[in-house]
Amino acid sequence: MQSLIDSFGRRIDYLRVSVTDRCNYRCFYCIPPEGVAMAARADFLRYEELARLIGLFADLGVSKVRFTGGEPLVRRDMVALVRQVAALPGIDDLSLSTNAHLLERHASLLREAGVSRVNISLDTLNPVTFAKITGGGELAAVLRGIDAALTAGMRPVKLNMVVMKGVNEHEIETMLDFAVERGADLRFIETMPIGVAGEKGVSRYYPAAKMLSRVRRKYGEELIAVKGAKGAGPASYYQIGGGPVRVGVISAMSRHFCEGCNRVRLTAKGELVLCLGQEDTIPLGSGLRQGCSDAELTQVILDAIARKPERHEFGKEENIVRFRSMSAIGG
Ligand code: GTP
Ligand code: 5AD
Ligand code: SF4
Repeated sequence: MQSLIDSFGRRIDYLRVSVTDRCNYRCFYCIPPEGVAMAARADFLRYEELARLIGLFADLGVSKVRFTGGEPLVRRDMVALVRQVAALPGIDDLSLSTNAHLLERHASLLREAGVSRVNISLDTLNPVTFAKITGGGELAAVLRGIDAALTAGMRPVKLNMVVMKGVNEHEIETMLDFAVERGADLRFIETMPIGVAGEKGVSRYYPAAKMLSRVRRKYGEELIAVKGAKGAGPASYYQIGGGPVRVGVISAMSRHFCEGCNRVRLTAKGELVLCLGQEDTIPLGSGLRQGCSDAELTQVILDAIARKPERHEFGKEENIVRFRSMSAIGG
């Protein structure tokens, strides 16, 4: 079987697929108050088209697929897409990144269709702060969504907390208690300067080293670093007291993890995004709609991977990624 190896020797086996750029929330670090330009719905690839592209990646050795958004569950009948992708030979890890607002009613069907694990944004346990961060979101619905995912047997359930100075930094310890109690993993994430909203977030930046020292202070000797955790992606992980719960820190800004990057992204329109923090995209979806054959599309994918950039260049003012919003790319 052919595989996708880029020019830095990295094997790409993970595809993140944004199924829509729409979202029912408006997290202020993701979508600015004035909103963002959105793709025309007619440009969204249909599920058959998405599944065809994902199938080509699977033939090239991609085995892990994550559905993202915006919010993936606002797109109608996501379960149908999950079924199609789960049936593709070679795909053995199907997951979802969601705000969980709609998860309660979908969790068990998604699980049956093939979603084995889920990552859920949860920045605070205070309903008022939650509504402020998400632009009117309902914490209770999200908590029900988390419980539904756990009840449906999705494992791991990873909670994503973007830690922000002056907003929710004081909740690190309460979030840890919550995660341990539920049996969910928890990742603390540094704000990334992506899009107009992310750019404003620079002033709220809270460094991963501080997050970690707070976790250490709380658990002391009980905190054990997990080396080479499977599916760790950008997070470094710690285990609490030998128990099942893992705590991760995603430090995109202070310590980049690009040397181990194993992923590329597909937007809802079928643009192939080679790096979260770089501009380059390849219009695979329009090639498909212009009638390209599988062999032609495969060649486009191979050529694209050959020019995957070495790393993002966040951290310098001139490298704030202004051209793209996080909601269009799904993180
Ligand atoms: P798994 O490792 O498969 O569980 O997924 P993940 O942690 O990569 O996915 P998730 O959608 O939960 O994203 C968590 C955070 O990691 C988000 O803030 C993403 O933007 C960030 N992230 C994911 N992939 C990358 C990447 O390639 N580069 C950078 N800089 N950040 C990433
Ligand atoms: N910086 C860091 N993480 C972000 N996310 C969205 N915008 C940003 C940002 N500017 C996270 C969400 C979600 C994940 C997919 O991406 O909180 O959990
Ligand atoms: Fe929606 Fe996720 Fe962006 Fe929040 S971070 S606005 S939930 S896409």
